[in-house]
Amino acid sequence: MKGCSLSRNTVTLAVVVASLLTTASTQSSRTFTVTNHCPFTIWPALLTDLQAGTAVPSQPTGWEQASGATVTFAVPYNWAAGRIWGRTECNFTVNPGPTSCATGGCNGGLLCDPGTGGGVPPATLAEFTLGINGLPDYYDVSLVDGSNLPMTITSDKGCPTASCPVDLNPACPSVLAYKDSSGVVVGCESACLANLDGNPNNSPNCCSGSYNTPQTCPASGVTYYSYFKNQCPDTYSYPFDESSGTALWTCAASLSSDYTIVFCP
Ligand SMILES: *[C@@H]1O[C@H](CO)[C@@H](O)[C@H](O)[C@H]1NC(C)=O
Repeated sequence: MKGCSLSRNTVTLAVVVASLLTTASTQSSRTFTVTNHCPFTIWPALLTDLQAGTAVPSQPTGWEQASGATVTFAVPYNWAAGRIWGRTECNFTVNPGPTSCATGGCNGGLLCDPGTGGGVPPATLAEFTLGINGLPDYYDVSLVDGSNLPMTITSDKGCPTASCPVDLNPACPSVLAYKDSSGVVVGCESACLANLDGNPNNSPNCCSGSYNTPQTCPASGVTYYSYFKNQCPDTYSYPFDESSGTALWTCAASLSSDYTIVFCP
């Protein structure tokens, strides 16, 4: 009897240890790598929607990154509604804030305000909600409000690559072109952001008002959707783009994937 009991305890212990190890591997932080392959300095920024979760990465909310430079940082396993984007042509010396950069500027300065420091669109966004409670990691490259820099997100566990590797600025339709103070096109706005139909509260381009469902806001009704989606099929290019099947990507949380974001891949 004693032997039997010991053996059962050993089995129980093994199960407990295995379950602790599983918990440890899925709940350890992830490593994110950000590389700037653009031939110019960028000022990446990072925002956590604090309504969705309070876990934040170890990295500051904004930093300067020279051409060719790589940074790595830890991201908590439960990072929710996080985004990373690149800011261009920044100078924070005078009145630091949203206008300190040609694209992607935020409330704050080099550091974006942790609560209100989202980037001024158009800006290509890397979006993440890492998996907890049995859900997978969700991630995408979003062009919903337009784009500024080419970008890829890759997984070290072989999960799908989310990407817009193409520079959408040079051929951006003129009504969407977003220019810097010297007139160079540095971003390409979505039709919603550019307010092409002049009715942002009831717009098939914005999926607002009576167009606020996937059924009433098909991609075919979004002006210039194909400009973005044809060149960058693996992006989230309008508010209900999940129906394309190539907008939102997943990776099993149990894989505990690390992610690499490359600007100008
Ligand atoms: C930043 O702006 C200030 C004020 O306009 C200017 O003096 C300075 O040269 C600028 N710095 C760069 C690196 O362009």
